[in-house]
Order: sequence, then structure tokens, then C-alpha cells
Amino acid sequence: MPKKVCCIGAGYVGGPTMAVIAQKNPDVKVTVVDINEDRIQGWNSEELPVFEPGLLEVVKEARGRNLFFTTAVEATIAEADIIFVSVNTPTKEFGVGKGSAANLMYVEKCARTIARVAQSNKIIVEKSTVPVRTAEFLKQILHAEGSKHQFEIVSNPEFLAEGTAIVDLNNPDRVLIGGDQTSEGKAAVASVSSLYEAWVPKDRILTTNLWSSELSKLTANAFLAQRISSINSISALCERTDADVEEVGRAIGMDSRIGSKFLRSSVGFGGSCFQKDILNLVYLCDFFGLPEVADYWRKVVEMNNYQKRRFVRRIMSAMFNTVSGRNLAIFGFAFKKDTNDTRESPAISVCRDLLDEQAVLRIYDPRVKKAQIYRDLGLDPSIEDPRVQIMSDPYQAVQACDAIAVLTEWDEFAELDYERIFDAMRKPAHIFDGRNLLKPKKLKKIGFSLHSIGKGDSATSLR
Ligand code: UDX
Ligand code: ADP
Repeated sequence: MPKKVCCIGAGYVGGPTMAVIAQKNPDVKVTVVDINEDRIQGWNSEELPVFEPGLLEVVKEARGRNLFFTTAVEATIAEADIIFVSVNTPTKEFGVGKGSAANLMYVEKCARTIARVAQSNKIIVEKSTVPVRTAEFLKQILHAEGSKHQFEIVSNPEFLAEGTAIVDLNNPDRVLIGGDQTSEGKAAVASVSSLYEAWVPKDRILTTNLWSSELSKLTANAFLAQRISSINSISALCERTDADVEEVGRAIGMDSRIGSKFLRSSVGFGGSCFQKDILNLVYLCDFFGLPEVADYWRKVVEMNNYQKRRFVRRIMSAMFNTVSGRNLAIFGFAFKKDTNDTRESPAISVCRDLLDEQAVLRIYDPRVKKAQIYRDLGLDPSIEDPRVQIMSDPYQAVQACDAIAVLTEWDEFAELDYERIFDAMRKPAHIFDGRNLLKPKKLKKIGFSLHSIGKGDSATSLR
């Protein structure tokens, strides 16, 4: 059993995962390090940098007991038996693989630091999603630094989804651990496994070779995203044919071979993983000389972009192609409910397109801060832009608006007083429900012109 665990990277993955590992293993000292002082300060406060239901309670139980957050990166690495690497691996924005390959700069930096400061053998765990064969790259870097210690690389991808991180961590479908098939590799896998065995039944801990584990993570995300793009492609057809995408989703989901999850049609998928991981897969396929496979997966991202553009086109069409100077309320900016994360949120491209059309946006999200929204829209948070007003209340947001676009499925949006909202809006009052969250019958009865994803409204559908 390891005594000391270090996690490099106090982000959306590292923070919650380590909090749960610490909670379940009170005898193991778990220290999360980050170079970002603000983040570490946040983790040591009551206002955590990551919003996740139930996370604060877990952190409070373990923090100061066996869970620590610090910027002392090197000292923590030096004393740890196991080091989880949970830093960001964004899509490369330059050079070879620009726009698709993963940028492993941060992972490489970690490897060099580990090799430099290690005073004993270490188990290094890839927690960040990385391309297949990153372990090979890590081994080379560690070796190049000339350390006299042994480093075992283990892949342990994280499958938690944001917004349900604590539930997912407490009750994972599986924990995947990949390692070298040598005796040292197997011992390293067993050591990492022991941390999870504190609460995960052994039959849900799956061990594989390193490369299968790395590729499984990319494949899982690609399959999940593919399901959303598939149902979204059908939503376009539904809007033309008066079929209802929710009914279609329910009908096919009852086939046990298909299954009912991840068939919710929407304005598009977002989040830090899906697009990045598919592009990564595309890059790998191209790299290994498999252009047909690359094209197959690239389509999943293209369909997602099409869905986001299509949503804006539908707004434009319903509003007679002019939103210039008109007020539009935006309900939700996060990429899904119960998170403050906006990475790759469909709201970003929808809002940018609407701003190009010179609309005035009045944005309300219960968790996302104004500065974040401004940065995402390419605006300076210190300069007020009259075209982008951030509201703290949904009722205030809709005052004198011509339309509402629901872009995140926050529960509270379903529970608002829509009669009051209708009265506050200009007429005709449009609602574009990008999440099929609202009750069509009730809204239509009030007088709204409602446009749901994958449901035809013959007056406005794009023909
Ligand atoms: C995803 C994977 O689910 C998780 O296993 C992996 O570790 C990280 O990537 P996450 O991005 O946090 O998790 O959220 P997820 O619930 O998968 O949703 C991703 C996006 O798809 C969101 O924008 C969500 O709104 C959208 N979505 C999801 C749909 O549009 N329809 C659905 O049916 C499901
Ligand atoms: P994820 O969603 O994968 O958790 P985040 O971007 O939320 O990604 O978190 C990654 C964290 O890793 C950031 O807080 C960043 O500051 C941190 N980080 C990146 N490189 C290093 C490094 N070399 N040492 C310590 N922390 C790092």
C-alpha cells in the first residue's frame, strides 16, 4: 500500500479524484500540487475553484487530515510513492498536428521535474487523457534526464463526467489501470489498484496493458460523442418531417443493444474532452496511415459544428433574418448543467454567431462568472460591452427581449414562471430550447412561439 500520493494538477479531474481517494484512504497522505496559486488558494478555501455537487463536503472531511493542496510541487514529488499526472493536454495550436494533436508540453514538463527531483523509485500515473503511446514518450523523457531511479508508468484514465463527478467516483462503472506486463509493471498496477480497492469492488477494477488503457479512454469518449452526433443528425431530419427526436430516441433506446443513455439531442456537445479526444484520435489515425478511419471520426466533430450553426440559423429564420439590435436572453452558458465549466460550450459559438448578427445578448447562468463569459467571447472583462450584458437573475434577463435561447439544461430553467416571463417580453415571444428542457404544451398555451430541437415547427423549419 502506498503511503504518499502526489497529484500534479488541481483541475476538474485532479481535484475531485484526489479528494475521493483521500476520503476513502485515511491512512494515505494525498497532496495535490499546482503551479497556479489562485487555484490552490481556492482549494484551501470554502469556495472551491471547481463547482461539483457534493465536492465541498468530501474536501472538508479529508482536508488537513490526509488531503493537502499546495504549490510546493518539487518537495511533494520528492516524497511521493505514486505521482498522478493530471495536467491539461490541450489541442495543439501550432506546428505539426495543429488543430488535432494533443499538446503534451505540460505532461513533458512534469516528467522532467519528476526525473530531476526524485530521490527514490516512483510510480507515475497518467491521469490526463493522452494519446496512445504517451507512456513511451514519458519513458524517453525520464530516461533522458539521467536519473538513477526506476520509474514505472501506469495509465489510469478518468471516466468521471463533470456535474456528477462525486457520484461517478463513488460508484464507477469500472476503474481502468494499464501497465507494463513485467513484474515491476504488475506491482505498480497493484499498488495503484490498492487505492481504489478501498471502495471499488475488485471485479470493477480492470487491468490491461498500457496501450489498451490509453486507447480505451479515447475510444470511450469518441463513442459517447458519436452517439450525440448521431441523434443530432436525426434531429435535423425530424425538424423537416414532423417526427419528434425525443420519441425516436425513446423508441431506439428501448432496444437493449442500443441502450437509452446519451441519446438526448441538443444544441451540440461541449466540454473539455469530446472534441479534443476525437481530434486526437483523428490525428493518430492519420499518423498511422489510416486516413479512412480518421475521416470517419472527424465527421463526429463536423456534425457537432453543424448542429451549433444550425441552431443559430433556426433562430435567424424564425426572426426573419434580423436580430440586429434586438435583445436575446441566453439561458445557460456552461457546457452542461451542474458545472461552472465553459470549455467548448456550445453557448460560446452560438453567442459569437449571434453577436456577428449584431444581437444584444443578456446572458444568465447560475454558476459561470462574468469574467469567464467575457473571455470566452473574446472580450476584455474589465471593459463593459453593451452588446453582452451578464445578468444575475433570469427574470431581469428577459425584460424587453424578443427571444430566449436555452443553451444549458439547468434544472431551474424548467421551473421558472413562464407567464411572468411572457409578460416581460416583446411579442412575438420566441423560445429556442436547445436542450428540449421546457414543456412545449404549457409554453405554447401561454402564447410563446417555441422551437425545440428535433421537433418541427412548420412555420420556421429550414427547408
Ligand atoms: C465526458 C465523458 O462522459 C467522461 O466519461 C469523460 O471522463 C470526460 O468527458 P463530460 O464532458 O464531463 O464527460 O460530460 P458529459 O456528460 O459526457 O457531456 C458532454 C457533452 O455532451 C455536454 O455538453 C452534454 O450536454 C452533451 N450531451 C450529453 C448531449 O448533448 N446529449 C446527451 O445525451 C448527453
Ligand atoms: P482537467 O480538466 O484535465 O483537470 P484543468 O485545466 O482543469 O484540466 O487542470 C489542469 C491543471 O494542471 C491546471 O490547474 C494547471 O495549472 C495545472 N498544471 C499544468 N502544468 C503543471 C505543472 N507543470 N505543474 C503543476 N501544475 C500544472
